[in-house]
Amino acid sequence: MKNMKTLLILCLALIALPSFAADGAKKSAAELEKEKALANPYPNDFGPDHLSEEQLKDYPADIKEGYKDLLTRCAQCHTPSRPLNSRFVEPEAGKVTPADRDAKEAAALAKMKGEHEEWFKDGSTWQIEAGIWNRYVKRMMNKPGCGVSAGGKMTNAEAKKIYEFLVYDGQRRKLGENAAKWKEHRAKLVEKLKTEKPTRYEELKKDNDL
Ligand code: HEC
Repeated sequence: MKNMKTLLILCLALIALPSFAADGAKKSAAELEKEKALANPYPNDFGPDHLSEEQLKDYPADIKEGYKDLLTRCAQCHTPSRPLNSRFVEPEAGKVTPADRDAKEAAALAKMKGEHEEWFKDGSTWQIEAGIWNRYVKRMMNKPGCGVSAGGKMTNAEAKKIYEFLVYDGQRRKLGENAAKWKEHRAKLVEKLKTEKPTRYEELKKDNDL
């Protein structure tokens, strides 16, 4: 009788086992990417996940479209807070083609360094680099499963619009007359990460990635 029971349990376990294993394997690459993104927060994540009407009011229509695409496309693995509160700034160099972008942005960057030394001293407020958003949008686009929850893969046209928004917005909302406000905003976010996720704060600090 006891053996029968053991046998029965064993049989049930054997039947159940493959379906458990299959369940585990069913986690798609996209789900794993999302888990990774959420398990490793950034100061950015503590800021707002949208811009206000006031902040957007002078933005041209095509730039606003890029912003709207960002709200859906960049919200799958983390919230839009992550790109919107990022310290990344790509210097705006006017109309550029992919071929001359690096050179033109490098020139804009050199000029900026001459005029605003203070923006290059505080890496947790600003990371100003030629091509940085171009690199990051591509990097995010190539992540496994990017686009699955927003109805199909992000198109190159959408990626380009999001990229153009990020360059335009960074230049205006993080620099110039808004630089001091941005500095204060970032300092609050970093402080929040420090108090709420101290281990992650130390990790990013060690990697020079705050
Ligand atoms: C498929 C999942 C996924 C999607 C979609 C996604 N991201 Fe991410 N994102 C991540 C992960 C994971 C990280 C953690 C760092 C890394 O892997 O690069 C991250 C980190 C970031 C960071 C922080 C980088 C840093 O070092 O400060 C920014 C900024 C960012 N993403 C912007 C975007 C933008 C813009 C989009 C939309 C074009 C986007 N993400 C879409 C998964 C995603």
